[in-house]
Amino acid sequence: MNFNKINDRRNTHSIKWDGHAKMNIPDDCMPLWVADMDFQTVPEVVDALSDLAQRGIYGYSFESDDYFKSVIGWMQRRHQWNIEKEWISTTPGVVSAIHACIQAFTQLGDAVMIQKPVYHPFAHAINVLERKLVNNALILKDAQYVIDFADFEKQIIDNQVKLFILCSPHNPVGRVWTKEELTTMADVCVKHHVLIVSDEIHMDFVFKPYRHHVLVDLNENYRDHVITLTAPSKTFNLAGLKLSNTMIANQKLKKKLEKVYDDLSVHAGHSFGLAATQAAYNHGDAYVDEMVDYLYENLIFMDHFFKENCPKIKIVQPQGLYLVWVDFRELGLKDRELKSFLLTKAKLWLNDGLIFGREGSGFQRINIATPKALIEKALNQLLSALKAENLC
Ligand SMILES: Cc1ncc(COP(=O)(O)O)c(C=O)c1O
Repeated sequence: MNFNKINDRRNTHSIKWDGHAKMNIPDDCMPLWVADMDFQTVPEVVDALSDLAQRGIYGYSFESDDYFKSVIGWMQRRHQWNIEKEWISTTPGVVSAIHACIQAFTQLGDAVMIQKPVYHPFAHAINVLERKLVNNALILKDAQYVIDFADFEKQIIDNQVKLFILCSPHNPVGRVWTKEELTTMADVCVKHHVLIVSDEIHMDFVFKPYRHHVLVDLNENYRDHVITLTAPSKTFNLAGLKLSNTMIANQKLKKKLEKVYDDLSVHAGHSFGLAATQAAYNHGDAYVDEMVDYLYENLIFMDHFFKENCPKIKIVQPQGLYLVWVDFRELGLKDRELKSFLLTKAKLWLNDGLIFGREGSGFQRINIATPKALIEKALNQLLSALKAENLC
């Protein structure tokens, strides 16, 4: 795959490239925000969707055995995780699965814990469903984020937490949690009867030498305590097809979750999503290997650029993901000023750190899943604006 190819996504109803007016963003800002990629997907996915489109009939559909085999095969090959067909439910997205989990496994007012700064729809789900949001904030220590384990357990006990939503790998801070970190958290949750919803949507984006560990697979005992959320959407750029897979070994838990979807009459069964996922999981290995290497090159390029041209701006070195958490605090701007500087002077549309929690003050999240030439252009725009404002 030629990841250097610049695909013009303007006028395609892309939220990232065409959402400026909708979101009140100046039209000339380059978008490096929402988590989708500017790369074309796996060619076999395009073939599968073209074949399906040619049939001309798009009636109700369900998951075939071959679909389940493709998901099982991917998890086995890529993550050494052996799952059974009976564990898998398709859902129309990971965020909708999180909402459904909160509804299925907690009551109004129950405490649900997250670790800010974290993917903002977690907090939104907890708030709109009128649960109590508990925060075990991550700590930035020696330029990397770590977990405050004492606080983790204290928050659970003090607030009688019922559900913990884990982000693994962690968006936006880029941590790929170690086995020890994962088991420490899970053991505390098991001890206090806290159910874990483990959002592993970024599982396929891990830089060497780090390794993603599927939480539920670290101890057989976790099977009754962990719900794993996965999706092909980030990995293969299929977010518009609205399909994700929830894995639950414990069938009682699985039925409880499925009942929420049934009650809402929400069913996945998106024929294009199913076809694309099957093709991607069957044929996408080399694509993902190449893409992760390409992303790493973009990351190194960006890191060197800041070090050479503006060392006040620092990357929190990500261990995975295509989203980079960048520390702008040394520029000495207030959040409002930083946002305005980026939009009006640098002409860049990034994700403002504050949306991930107040812990994100002074940070921005930059999406590097785009051709290197665009990263270079964005960084040069930033540098010119910084110089013009005497900021570096
Ligand atoms: C951690 C995390 N979970 C979920 C999602 C979105 O999942 P979906 O589009 O399947 O709802 C994202 C998208 O960026 C994400 O970063």
